[in-house]
Amino acid sequence: MNIRQTDVLIVGSGLSGLVAAELLSTHKNVMIFTKGRLEDSNSYLAQGGIAASTHKEDQWQDHLFDTIHAGCEHNHLQATEVLVKKGPAMIKRLIDLGVEFDRSEDGSYQYGREGAHRRSRILHICGDATGKHLINTVKKRILDKQIVVEGETVFKLIIRDGRCIGVWSLDERGEMSATYAASVVLATGGLSGLYPFNSNAATVTGDGMALAYEAGAVLTDMEFIQFHPTLLLRGRESVGLVTEAVRGEGGILVDEYGNRLMQGVHPLGDLAPRDIVSRELYRARQQGKKTYLDIRRIPRFSERFPTVTELCRKNGIPWENGFLQVAPGAHFSMGGIEVDASARTSIPGLFAIGETAHTGVHGANRLASNSLLEGMVTAEQVAQTILYEPKQRLYPPVSWLGVKVLKYAPQLEQIRTILDTCVGIERNEQQLVKAINWFESYLDQQVYTKTPHLEEVQIKNQLLVAWLVAKSSLERTESRGSHYRSDYPYQVEEWRQKRIKRRKWSHEPFEITTHA
Ligand code: SIN
Repeated sequence: MNIRQTDVLIVGSGLSGLVAAELLSTHKNVMIFTKGRLEDSNSYLAQGGIAASTHKEDQWQDHLFDTIHAGCEHNHLQATEVLVKKGPAMIKRLIDLGVEFDRSEDGSYQYGREGAHRRSRILHICGDATGKHLINTVKKRILDKQIVVEGETVFKLIIRDGRCIGVWSLDERGEMSATYAASVVLATGGLSGLYPFNSNAATVTGDGMALAYEAGAVLTDMEFIQFHPTLLLRGRESVGLVTEAVRGEGGILVDEYGNRLMQGVHPLGDLAPRDIVSRELYRARQQGKKTYLDIRRIPRFSERFPTVTELCRKNGIPWENGFLQVAPGAHFSMGGIEVDASARTSIPGLFAIGETAHTGVHGANRLASNSLLEGMVTAEQVAQTILYEPKQRLYPPVSWLGVKVLKYAPQLEQIRTILDTCVGIERNEQQLVKAINWFESYLDQQVYTKTPHLEEVQIKNQLLVAWLVAKSSLERTESRGSHYRSDYPYQVEEWRQKRIKRRKWSHEPFEITTHA
């Protein structure tokens, strides 16, 4: 068993984790654990840009309005206000770090538009390659500090006297380590990689949420999973994302007969909020129709969208014909580990940032291109908090007592199928109960092991996260944003601003609270 010690341990290598590391590493010893390679993150894949009100005709109040409108007024108002107000400063920070956002020929910034934005306010880097360039810029600033440990999977948090003091992890050879840290930051991304149709990096399967829940932290809003309308299809398989910016530049959604799918459905048409577009496409496909993105009106498509073009080339999809076959798929988790404005979870010493955290800024449906912004803002919040934390006393190393794993484990493919069929774009009581019973038939039988294998701890965490989504989906007896119940198809006033919070030791939500 390896024993390590650091001031700050960050789990996950997406934008929020790397930016937090960059900000902290001048004053603290920082380590980053990532279970794959440094680039295996949703941030790296991000085709959309960063939304911020930096245009002279755009105010933070406009950005706030769009964020709350897309979020179906389920957003935490104060946190959302902080997010949009900080937008311009975050863009400036990135420019100072050396990021070059796309400009027009006259030298002014190019502002793109995506679903539910009433203004063009999204900045991109090299068209649809924003995430890759952002990560590469931040990576350069931390790599010489040798703080990234790749292939290291955290499978349990170490809790002493109610405080998180470190983590247990396994490397790719199955060797176990205990790493002690005064502050542990979970930056593991969301959970959409658990769905069979998804836009996420394969590693993004809700690890941080499972770790925090097992340790007793509060998780909130787990029922809200955003389905992106346009995943690129090759046959019946999804091979990646087609950014919403394609519709921002004039792409339109049609069926195989060329009929427009979004006409008359919403005033914003093809740029309606994602939940509405995804449901429309889902229903068309349920009726046996094929759904396409017509890109014929977009000049210089391959120049403007090099990442999508490359995806097509790699997968033998003839984009030059002007039609891409698309379908909705899981994309982003609005819920997660509850944090306050300082990125603190309900467990002292444990912090959460980026998509794995629940700050409440996305409400029931995230506004496009707000997630990289949230990653930046929460990274700054956690860095500020940790830099000013009083020095922690050192705990003596703890004994290894083992971890609970499933007595009988299902295959990941089985979990995916249940999520897809019972906890997908449209849900109902019967399907949700079926899913919960199936998940519980495995979760209810757990045994301790002192020699866990990576696959054992991962499948348990994946099952646990799937169960959390299904449980909260069953309890929210209304439809709001991304959470659509065919048996409760309308928003219900009594559910307005109500959040379902979950904490271990109880199958029931321990609290349903109202947040202003
Ligand atoms: C997209 O480019 O459509 C995705 C960006 C986002 O989810 O914000």
